[in-house]
Amino acid sequence: MKNTIHQFNSPLETANAVAEFILAKAIEKKRLNQELNIALSGGNTPKLLFEVLATHYKELIPWQHVRLFWVDERCVPPTHSESNYGMTKEALLKNVAIPTQNIFRMKGEVDAQTEAIRYAKLLQNELPSISDFPQLDIVLLGMGDDGHTASIFPHQMQLLTAKESVSIGTHPITDQQRITLTGKTINTAKHLICLITGGSKATVLRQIIHSEQGCEQFPAYHVHAINGERAFFLDNAAASALQK
Ligand code: 6PG
Repeated sequence: MKNTIHQFNSPLETANAVAEFILAKAIEKKRLNQELNIALSGGNTPKLLFEVLATHYKELIPWQHVRLFWVDERCVPPTHSESNYGMTKEALLKNVAIPTQNIFRMKGEVDAQTEAIRYAKLLQNELPSISDFPQLDIVLLGMGDDGHTASIFPHQMQLLTAKESVSIGTHPITDQQRITLTGKTINTAKHLICLITGGSKATVLRQIIHSEQGCEQFPAYHVHAINGERAFFLDNAAASALQK
């Protein structure tokens, strides 16, 4: 595993840096007349990125060359306050000129097993495959205070090695079901971006980045891009426990 650490003074500067990365990749794809396939996570940290993309990058990114997929989705309707799609629509989608046909949402409102199967087929149809798993250009991950990522929580580590490309996770406290990309799909990505801010994640992040004893318990420890790399985009607070 190769960790690349990008550290910034604030969550906003961190979000801007990820936006710059996405802009560069989207321009590369436009030059090749190809499309940039990105899977988005939910949560407050990604939300700030979406707001940055919808304002400072609104006119810069060639949205017609960007296709959006989801890393995970809560099993609620898209209008629900907890919907990742709903949050992304408000923060980003309604503010940029991305073609509707370039938006591939997970349907949180339908039966979870049915949707997991549908979305797996959709990814198979829309993306190239590597060893039977769909390959995204960029997977954008957050990390919870408990070291979960996507909707792979510590009590469901089997989702990291599932043979399916999309499965169902459950929140350990609320028991809420979530559709989620599985570990092998995440690990097939060309680029894995871990966008993590806030001091509440600092200790777990240190354990993961320094491979400290017990780090294997955290799902976020086990994800990486297909070449074994992952890029951490951190604010000072999240990076505050890292050894200098
Ligand atoms: C979700 C996310 C989840 C999230 C992390 C970080 O659906 O909740 O996919 O993995 O990215 O929990 O969330 P915060 O940025 O809000 O801490």
